[in-house]
Amino acid sequence: MDRQPQQQPSQAQSQPLDILILAAGLGTRMRSSTAKVLHRLGGRPLIAHVCRTASALVKGERPVYVVVGHQAEEVKEAVRAELGEGGAVFVTQTEQRGTGDAVFAAREALGDADSTLLVLSGDVPLVRAETLGSLVHQHRTHRGRGAACTLMAVRLEDPTGYGRVVRDEEGRFQKIVEQKDATPEERQIGEVNAGIYCFETRLLFPALERVQPENAQGEFYLTDVPAILRADGEDVSVSTHTDAREVSGINTRVELSEFERILRLRTLRSLMLNSGVTVIDPQHTYVSPDAQIGRDTTLHPNVHVEGRTVIGEGCEVMQGSRIVDSRVGNGVTVKDHCLIVESEVGDHCAVGPFAHLRMNARMEDGSTVGNFVEMKKSRLGSKSKAMHLTYLGDAEVGERTNIGAGTVTCNYDGKNKHPTVIEHDVKIGSDTMLVAPVRVGARSVTGAGSVVTEDVPPDTLVAGVPAKVKKKLPREDEAADKPAVESKNEDAGEPVTAAATGEER
Ligand code: UD1
Ligand code: MG
Repeated sequence: MDRQPQQQPSQAQSQPLDILILAAGLGTRMRSSTAKVLHRLGGRPLIAHVCRTASALVKGERPVYVVVGHQAEEVKEAVRAELGEGGAVFVTQTEQRGTGDAVFAAREALGDADSTLLVLSGDVPLVRAETLGSLVHQHRTHRGRGAACTLMAVRLEDPTGYGRVVRDEEGRFQKIVEQKDATPEERQIGEVNAGIYCFETRLLFPALERVQPENAQGEFYLTDVPAILRADGEDVSVSTHTDAREVSGINTRVELSEFERILRLRTLRSLMLNSGVTVIDPQHTYVSPDAQIGRDTTLHPNVHVEGRTVIGEGCEVMQGSRIVDSRVGNGVTVKDHCLIVESEVGDHCAVGPFAHLRMNARMEDGSTVGNFVEMKKSRLGSKSKAMHLTYLGDAEVGERTNIGAGTVTCNYDGKNKHPTVIEHDVKIGSDTMLVAPVRVGARSVTGAGSVVTEDVPPDTLVAGVPAKVKKKLPREDEAADKPAVESKNEDAGEPVTAAATGEER
């Protein structure tokens, strides 16, 4: 076997990787009282996107370092929500004196580390872990021994606003010059600093100490460090990335909206190509990158699927519906203009139009909720129906039960919420008020307009205000030839009429 001459792994190659995310700035150009990194993209704060990518790189083995300043508590909260309690170490930059000062704030936490430090900005949300991985690789393998600093650059048609990468005649890196400090010639340079860097930690902090705020903005620029290292005879390498959009930062709300569109179309494309989802009008369909949608499901225009929603296979979500952090089974139809939040819809259910499910509402398999029905913290049993104008709050509904039009579970007494239980095979007549806490036994029937204030035993017809027992109903198996109640129209929840129930008026 031939032995290839092997390069000795450099110090840099064998070093651990630390990641530092700069997220202390306000982001003046956003014209907002909310810190830039808290603005949302694809439903999540910008900083959460960067944190997720960073943690993929350190594989959860090392914490991610985050520099906070503006709205530090809120930023920390957003980071913890993404990385968990121990996933990040926070460093505070008390006064925002520039990107160099922001990194310097991490000196105590990182200054002594013998690591490679990847510096990211909290406002560059679309950068991919693979791109960063190849930057780190280039940094560690530069000239076989690794560089002191490797910065990521991109070519832009309109480089306005960015720091320019200035090279000498031989094309070697010379310095970065910020827009406000650049000469007219330098402003012609199309190669810009993406604001993503690898540094050898032990060289970075001594160099940062030598940065002076002698520039148009009176700030400590991190971008001065590469030139300082180069003057010291260290290697500075530039990694030129071709996808400018991926590595550029968001500075204005116009850019934020452009990124939103890109991310949205990227998500929809993947749903169509990889998951087999039909998206009728991608320009007007909004699906969170964290949502999952099954094969042969169709999304109609103006549908919003948010958060970590999971939708099964063969579903139809009609126009104007919004589904947030919910689970929808297979073969479900969500008709027009429904709102489903933190709720669960079983297989082969139908919802809407104009239905509202919230706070852990749960529709079991094959159940139906129709027009203007609201369910809150309630369960609708398998094959049960609530078709029209109904409120089910804190209610447990059994299987094959029909809830008539206009039924309300009166769950709130002005101070407390109370539960309603409706067992299997019940027929609740139209416009029944169920004053909770209350239970309606299996196979019982309430007459139209009943106000049920007391528990109804099984197999019982009640009616009136307040509802009184009218008669005991024979079990179907006991009275095969004698129908107990002529409920006119189950589907419509038609009232059990006075005549049909023998109710006296
Ligand atoms: C920076 C670079 C510029 C580059 C551009 C790419 C500098 C001086 N300039 O400019 O060369 O082309 O990014 O997007 O670095 N931050 C702090 N503390 C501060 C200041 C900023 O934490 O005191 C954070 C911000 O929250 C942000 C990041 O650093 O996440 C970048 O700051 P920003 O003001 O956007 O820098 P740019 O002007 O875009
Ligand atoms: Mg920026």
